[in-house]
Amino acid sequence: MADTLTITDNRTGKQYEVPITDGTIRALDLRKIKASAEDFGLMTYDPAFTNTASCRSAITYIDGDVGVLEYRGYPIEQLAEHSSYLEVAYLLMFGELPTADQLTQWKQGITQHTLLHENIKHLMRGFRYDAHPMGVFLSTVGALSTFYPDAKQVDDPEVRLRHIARLIAKTPSIAAYTYRHTTGRFYVYPDNDLSFTGNFLNMLFKMTEAKYAVNPVLERALEVLFILHADHEQNCGTNAMRSIGSSEVDPYSATAGAAAALYGPLHGGANEAVLKMLEQIGSKANVPAFIEGVKKGEGKLMGFGHRVYKSYDPRAKIVKQAAYDVFEVTGKNPQLDLALELERIALEDEYFVSRRLYPNVDFYSGLIYQALGFAPGMFTVLFAIPRTAGWVAQWDELHRDADQKIARPRQIYTGHRTRAYVPMEQRA
Ligand code: SDX
Repeated sequence: MADTLTITDNRTGKQYEVPITDGTIRALDLRKIKASAEDFGLMTYDPAFTNTASCRSAITYIDGDVGVLEYRGYPIEQLAEHSSYLEVAYLLMFGELPTADQLTQWKQGITQHTLLHENIKHLMRGFRYDAHPMGVFLSTVGALSTFYPDAKQVDDPEVRLRHIARLIAKTPSIAAYTYRHTTGRFYVYPDNDLSFTGNFLNMLFKMTEAKYAVNPVLERALEVLFILHADHEQNCGTNAMRSIGSSEVDPYSATAGAAAALYGPLHGGANEAVLKMLEQIGSKANVPAFIEGVKKGEGKLMGFGHRVYKSYDPRAKIVKQAAYDVFEVTGKNPQLDLALELERIALEDEYFVSRRLYPNVDFYSGLIYQALGFAPGMFTVLFAIPRTAGWVAQWDELHRDADQKIARPRQIYTGHRTRAYVPMEQRA
């Protein structure tokens, strides 16, 4: 049997052979299927790309039916247990785990870029004290494009790599400055003696002490959270990164757009929405009524469901474990019991079971961030930091892919066709 599709167009009786490669057919192959000579030819209609492969990628593999997530073939469970965020960022970028020398060089290449231009401080001062941290974050990332005009040379792999390192290095600094701005505290400069996540904690929480003392449990918990959030194949934010990047704009502008997509409550903004939902529910006694409301369409169970995972998000299991580790240090988040009860009831309820809705990565992560002392507005910023590694790796892969060019989908036109202009006096 051949790897082809035989299509019969019943409008004309004609038959067409369409090759099948990697489980797909090229949409453009359908263009030859015409009802008449002047016909444009068939297109596919796939709003929200529910069944469309937009690219070929070797970075992340997901099997949503069985809850598998692998970065460059390494299971997320093994990376969360044994690896570090910067090692995972290297793996996503270059495809292999680094040798000791490669990792040292990679870390140095990033650590040297953790400082922000002093003008960034003035830029941030323009935001209100209560500005949403994601608005500050994505604006500032975009503003970085004005500090590095050479980043426009996106066809040069060395230039791309230089700015990839800058983005990985500077997003935690921007996040920390954002947090300090919204809490009215002075900015803390990077302490490059510390680990990547240790320095992030330093820039967030150091006060007047000479040197910030990093809590190793919190440092490791952040490493695990950053590893879990680093990449997730063609999610909404990464699709934005690729679509924006396909116009050959610089990576700072593309990353700002990807962060804007992540900001949405259906995407990375869900971790913040989960905490608001738990606060709205208030107590275990209110869970059944809340669940009934969701089933009536009065709202969504935030942190549940996924376009790809139709089983338990493997990341959610690991986040749940990390939460217990963090609570050993910070004290248990009182919302945990409510979240566990919500999960217990939902996983038994036909509405959620029949729709294969399970907790996703955002369901428990906010509980950890809140226990670490962050206000909900910072939660998605904490998602955006590690996702930067995935965004830039996917962006680099885009620029290496000969199949890719500027993203420009088509449409089904539903509006009026040609008609004459109506003078004002004749309008109803
Ligand atoms: C992330 O794509 C990624 O990889 C994203 C991400 C990443 O790492 O980048 O994993 C991170 O964004 C995780 C998702 C975080 N978002 C949320 O937790 C928000 C709540 N979840 C939903 O909005 C929803 O589940 C989505 C957006 C995540 C997925 O939506 P889909 O795939 O478009 O599914 P759908 O909306 O078509 O839902 C199918 C059915 C519908 O019911 P019916 O119309 O068939 O009756 O399930 C229902 C939906 O109403 N449904 C929910 C629900 N999610 C889906 N009902 C109640 N609560 C929910 N959370």
